[in-house]
Amino acid sequence: MMLSEKIVSNLSKSSWIRAMFEEGAKLAQRYGSENVYDFSIGNPYAEPPTKVIESLKKYVLSDEKGLHRYMNNAGYPEVREKIAKSLQASSGVELTNQNVVMTVGAAGGLNVVFKSILNPGEEVIVFAPYFVEYGSYADNHGGKIVVVPPDLSTFEPDLDALEKAITPKTKAVIINNPNNPTGVIYREETLKAIKEIFEKKEKEYNTSIFIISDQPYSEIVYDNAEVPSILRIFTKGIIVSSFSKSLGLAGDRIGYIAASSKIENVDVLMNALSYCNRTLGFVNAPGLIQKVVGDSLDAKVNVEEYKKRRDYLYDNLTRVGFECVKPQGAFYLFPKALMEDDVEFVKRALKYNLLLVPGTGFGCPGYVRLSYCVQFDMIERSIPAFEQLAAEFK
Ligand SMILES: Cc1ncc(COP(=O)(O)O)c(C=O)c1O
Repeated sequence: MMLSEKIVSNLSKSSWIRAMFEEGAKLAQRYGSENVYDFSIGNPYAEPPTKVIESLKKYVLSDEKGLHRYMNNAGYPEVREKIAKSLQASSGVELTNQNVVMTVGAAGGLNVVFKSILNPGEEVIVFAPYFVEYGSYADNHGGKIVVVPPDLSTFEPDLDALEKAITPKTKAVIINNPNNPTGVIYREETLKAIKEIFEKKEKEYNTSIFIISDQPYSEIVYDNAEVPSILRIFTKGIIVSSFSKSLGLAGDRIGYIAASSKIENVDVLMNALSYCNRTLGFVNAPGLIQKVVGDSLDAKVNVEEYKKRRDYLYDNLTRVGFECVKPQGAFYLFPKALMEDDVEFVKRALKYNLLLVPGTGFGCPGYVRLSYCVQFDMIERSIPAFEQLAAEFK
């Protein structure tokens, strides 16, 4: 065969989210898009704040020379310095531009981190339900994920299961806070309990485990909820984040990695991250948009708009009979399917032109994910469809 056998085989296992997205396009053609309720994909509808657009205009129209050249593989030092100082303020951990590498979104950042830290066969612990791409990203660099199930009453990790999952090959854990797909924010006390478990196991195996905080939703939180700072709690903390959600810039592919100054030999880690940013072919994160986010760290999309959607959908779904943990952040709901088989349940929902994603796709069968970063009137129009679907199970 001319192509990679592994990739061809992966293609046939195509992602659930993509599959539903394609199903939606078919339904829209048949019934008209206003009669299809697509909750499948996390593509934020929110436009970037005015400040972002103004900054972008400023750079596009600027006469300044050199704005479009290559730069340091880690990105513009002044932008990295601003991000470092903003994280220093929230964590109390001293950071400079030397601790930050600009990346092609959080997705690019995770690949750069894995490439930098993983030896063949090493393991990355993930907490179900989890963002499915983690498996591909670890596999890209010779690693593999080990899935720890949740405590289903809170959707925080099952700590006994975590302790059993750690092996001498464990190199890192990913903490996605707020979580996609549940919208849950892991509490500080939970993170401290996780820290104790890792410290115990590191001593037992004489190993060193990185705590990777994948936090592209950290600015999308409700009711004054706070996302505990990973850098404050963990010594070996590495933040991976992006502006895809907080500034509505998903298509512009801009994010960063920030590694704690408390990591032993952090300068070698930072060199490795810059090197991998280069050798993975990213070279550097897109230049103009680096400058723009540097100008816009105090801006964010309208979170009240997301809250309005969360409240409306949560209230209506629970009213018609769904069970659901109320999300404190991100823009997803993760209710229990009304039958055991979530994949079958998603098919039943399709009869009402409702597009949901099975929890199986996130390592958590029996649940479904709804992405509510969609137009509000679509949510309003969808409620009778949820009512009819739920009525089937009464
Ligand atoms: C949990 C999580 N991590 C990472 C990403 C990647 O985001 P980006 O590469 O756009 O920053 C996403 C995107 O949806 C996500 O949900």
